[in-house]
Amino acid sequence: MVRPRISTNFAISADGKISSIHHRPSGWTSKQDHQRLLELRQNADALMVGRGTLEHDQMTLTGPRNPLRCIISRTGELDPTHPIFSKPGGPIHLLVTNGEGKSLPQDPRLTIHTGTLKDFIHSLAETHHVKNLHCEGGGQLVNELAQLDLIDEFHLTVAAHTLFGGAESPTTTGKPANFLPASRHFKISYFEPRTDLGECFLSYSRA
Ligand SMILES: NC(=O)c1ccc[n+]([C@@H]2O[C@H](COP(=O)([O-])OP(=O)(O)OC[C@H]3O[C@@H](n4cnc5c(N)ncnc54)[C@H](OP(=O)(O)O)[C@@H]3O)[C@@H](O)[C@H]2O)c1
Repeated sequence: MVRPRISTNFAISADGKISSIHHRPSGWTSKQDHQRLLELRQNADALMVGRGTLEHDQMTLTGPRNPLRCIISRTGELDPTHPIFSKPGGPIHLLVTNGEGKSLPQDPRLTIHTGTLKDFIHSLAETHHVKNLHCEGGGQLVNELAQLDLIDEFHLTVAAHTLFGGAESPTTTGKPANFLPASRHFKISYFEPRTDLGECFLSYSRA
């Protein structure tokens, strides 16, 4: 299928979690981690997050190229007072996979799509000429991208100075549950250990 190149970025704890059990935002693990998040946005024609991440992290999804801001939801029940609707930024594309979207604000920048994640990603390339789609989580959304085998680049900050614990706290592919249909393999393309921070910045590309 015609599709954009898809990258994703996470900070993970020593036990491989992206958030604590109560889904408190992990925040940026260090100033450098935040800097890297901004750098990874630089090439993005579109940024994408699951509704959970949008709301827990109060993200407004901006970047130097005024990327499209894509939100994925089954229900479409977004908080109409969320700052994404009041802050300047690119067009907002909401994909609602199992509903119609409720209580949404009248925002001329907002387009609502229905259908599958796969078709939505195809339409980003086909209709909106998105070449680079950067996904900032969360685990549930990346789980479906991994199931569809659509991840080209995986960026990680290993913040092994922290343990979150908890069977219910999410990993980069969501709460530990079913296996993917098959393992997905990547090769390392960037490695920057920062002993001063107790962190390591890594990038992997699809093998
Ligand atoms: N450490 C990091 O780098 C990092 C990065 C990102 C997020 N996080 C953290 O991760 C936590 C959120 O994780 P999560 O796994 O709950 O996140 P998520 O994927 O962002 O959000 C889950 C929600 O997003 C929607 N969604 C996700 N995948 C979907 C799909 N394939 N189709 C349709 N809708 C889909 C659904 O919304 P509806 O309920 O509206 O249907 C679902 O309930 C937060 O605490 C956040 O702070 C950490």
